[in-house]
Amino acid sequence: MHIISPILLGLAALTDVATAALSAGCGKAPTVTSGIKTISVGGTQRQFTVRVPNNYQNNKGYKVIYGLHWNGGRMEQVANGGDTGSKNWKYFGLQILANETAIFVAPLGLNGQWPNTNGQDINFIKAMNDYFDAGLCVEKSQRFSIGFSYGAAMSYSVACNLPKDFRGVAIIAGGALSGCSGGSEPMAYFGIHGINDGTLPIASGRQLRDKFVQNNGCASMAGAKEPAKGSRTHITTAATGCKAGYPVKWAAHDGGHIQAAADKPAPEENGEASWVGPEVWAFWNLPEVATPK
Ligand SMILES: *[C@@H]1O[C@H](CO)[C@@H](O)[C@H](O)[C@H]1NC(C)=O
Repeated sequence: MHIISPILLGLAALTDVATAALSAGCGKAPTVTSGIKTISVGGTQRQFTVRVPNNYQNNKGYKVIYGLHWNGGRMEQVANGGDTGSKNWKYFGLQILANETAIFVAPLGLNGQWPNTNGQDINFIKAMNDYFDAGLCVEKSQRFSIGFSYGAAMSYSVACNLPKDFRGVAIIAGGALSGCSGGSEPMAYFGIHGINDGTLPIASGRQLRDKFVQNNGCASMAGAKEPAKGSRTHITTAATGCKAGYPVKWAAHDGGHIQAAADKPAPEENGEASWVGPEVWAFWNLPEVATPK
């Protein structure tokens, strides 16, 4: 027995890499149901929509995926499939792909925006994390955020501010509108931007990407190919040399300031034909990202 114990301890240490970080809500009756919720954050009432998976099981650590709306957008647009009104575009195309393996959240920005004044919106995200951890079974190493435009800016701020609480982000047509406090730690990062974006030009998307190219220890993406104008296609490039578990991808498309980019012959923005959801879902489900830790 005394001889065996150190070996068992050694094995336990080895399996640690795959040990889940389950929240306090695991093993308990859920106290959170699907719908619109209000919580108080620093004295301000904040609203969000949550979708709990069908056939929710309290012994399974679920991913939590935040979908953040654009300037003047509403949480319902994210939850219902955007202005494209497509079942394939609910939560930026990820709900259908997750197939009931993730908790989806669409928070509402004050006045439809994410200025993160004095950290107000980061505090809101932290308060929602605590709320879900307590009321549902969450795999705490598997939280993600995706957003478009202002919501992309806020997801970028999440990557900067909350590197321990989030595993990955997807930034669709973003700029640095919500700040970047901290911002020196790695995060699995997927940047998506249109070469014809007249609202937040692609240079801003490259700049945000390059922050995490650096944080993640990847080789420069300065030479990453982008599609030709008029090609109506997209080019996705994976950064090389990144720290294990912290990949970066960059997808440039021949489109404008849009969220559901699609290749020709589909219309430029099309929730049914968009490659954005499938590519983001595949990226977040790379074994190096999806393995709990
Ligand atoms: C979704 O999950 C269910 C239950 O695990 C499974 O039977 C089904 O094949 C999955 N559907 C898709 C499209 O992957």
